[in-house]
Amino acid sequence: MNDISKEENFKRDLEELVRGFGEESQEGVKEALRKCQDDFGLVSKSHVTQIADAFNLDEKIVKTIIKFMPTVKESNVEYEIICCTGPRCAKNGSREVIKTIKNTLGIDFNETTSDGKISLRGQNCFKKCKLGPNIMINKKFYHHMNKEKAEEILSEIVSK
Ligand code: FES
Repeated sequence: MNDISKEENFKRDLEELVRGFGEESQEGVKEALRKCQDDFGLVSKSHVTQIADAFNLDEKIVKTIIKFMPTVKESNVEYEIICCTGPRCAKNGSREVIKTIKNTLGIDFNETTSDGKISLRGQNCFKKCKLGPNIMINKKFYHHMNKEKAEEILSEIVSK
């Protein structure tokens, strides 16, 4: 089955679950999450939105439910890169670092690489301005970043 028909099937199943369980049903959400996990092997951010909308619930509630379901994986992102977009890092050259990262990965902020492995976003100041430009990868800080360091770190990640 191709991705489009998988999505269509899931949409139909989701509508059926909403009809069966009713809007705002957490049991219904659990079923939908199980179904999504089975169909796609993970629950992407867009599926979280889709399920929340279908059951007329806030996305935060769906995410909380996922936390209590160990068999459900929220996405297959392995590396979450966060770049400081704050003014003091910018003064020290963060724009070039960010440009290098975006160009190397071929994605913009709030996007994920096509293999789903690396996501990228910006954050306005980590409150570590003296050590900037700063980026964070999987909660670990990388300080005094420049173009060369960014290329080096990315080459390690991308080749894994
Ligand atoms: S501006 Fe980058 S850490 Fe504050």
